[in-house]
Amino acid sequence: MSTTADQKQRVLSGMRPTGLLHLGHFHGVLKNWIKLQESYDCLFFVADWHALTTHYEEPQVIGENVLDMVIDWLAAGVDPDSTKLFVQSRVPEHAELHLLLSMITPLGWLERVPSYKDQQDRLKDKDLATYGFLGYPLLQSADILIYKAGQVPVGEDQVAHVELTREVARRFNHLFGREADFEDKIDQAIRKMGKRNANQFRGLRRRYREQGDQLAIREGQRLLQAQQNISGDDRERLMGALEGVGRVILPEPQALLTKAPKMPGLDGQKMSKSYHNTISLRESPKTVEHKIRTMPTDPARVRRTDPGEPAKCPVWQLHQVYSDSTVQAWVEEGCRTAGIGCLDCKRPVIESVLAELEPLKARAEEYARDMDAVKEILSQGTEAAREIAQTTLDEVRSVMGLSSL
Ligand code: TRP
Ligand code: SF4
Repeated sequence: MSTTADQKQRVLSGMRPTGLLHLGHFHGVLKNWIKLQESYDCLFFVADWHALTTHYEEPQVIGENVLDMVIDWLAAGVDPDSTKLFVQSRVPEHAELHLLLSMITPLGWLERVPSYKDQQDRLKDKDLATYGFLGYPLLQSADILIYKAGQVPVGEDQVAHVELTREVARRFNHLFGREADFEDKIDQAIRKMGKRNANQFRGLRRRYREQGDQLAIREGQRLLQAQQNISGDDRERLMGALEGVGRVILPEPQALLTKAPKMPGLDGQKMSKSYHNTISLRESPKTVEHKIRTMPTDPARVRRTDPGEPAKCPVWQLHQVYSDSTVQAWVEEGCRTAGIGCLDCKRPVIESVLAELEPLKARAEEYARDMDAVKEILSQGTEAAREIAQTTLDEVRSVMGLSSL
């Protein structure tokens, strides 16, 4: 039985297999995953169903990218011993939970998610007026809730999806978290805490109900966490009782906004496949060098002798990611006085990117030579993930009146 205490510790995130990973993924997502895996129980998965919602006309793209993407994760340092890695479509429980949640999700909630209209406008060449695409964020909610994940590392564009997940969870708990004998069970559970704690808990519950005091909820949660002699079920009931929502079956997740600054692409915009300004994690040294050498610079520097301004140059943005303060000072001075040329200026960036990619590529090649090992990592991750998913789904089915025969 997973409890609310586990929930806090569990981190879940997914990535769509729609193309080669690039430095933007490495700096913006993977480095963060790698840090999180040290202190949390992490699950990371390939969101192949999510990829199908927009790429259903090119299924081969998805098929080709799944294993390569996982290899890039591993090469970047995701640790398969401490972290569960899997492919979404290998855990069909996500789909069943998606279906069940669809019963209680108002259409308007989905139509109002900003990415629904935005993506339809942005991807004009695709027909996204589909049932599957409307359901995209709800499928994501199922991904998250089936593991009762507490924290979901995502970029800004995904925060609305986590917010929807919280609303769906709240509605679910409100509808299905009320057992016929809820108050009796609460009463029994409270008693198990001993007289002093029981009185304190009742007081906090009252304080929240009568004064809406958020502090009372947090204190109450701390009190519950510290109880040794109540079961996971009781703890969930009491958490629910505290907020007056019935039993919390699907706990609300938190979005964990990735703090990394936006990784600049070759043209100074955010690095992204759709801007064609990326350096992929598998790029050959020759192409890395070529791509950086041909990057645009401050347009004022037409001739080598024209001074420039780093603030107007995309190369300067890369120096901010890769160079220390000595090199940065050298750039600022050299650019403004025309003391250095743009190719001189680009040299340290080229060296840094090559040095960063070299060990990554070496590890990726090793994994690519041993696909069986990669598949084994995925199959173990899938098995572990399914075990958690099945437990949640059993609970969900039972409170929704579905037979377990
Ligand atoms: N929609 C996410 C993206 O495009 C990918 C994703 C699918 C995801 N399911 C998820 C992320 C669950 C976090 C949690 O980036
Ligand atoms: Fe950009 Fe460097 Fe050239 Fe200045 S010297 S314009 S910062 S590349």
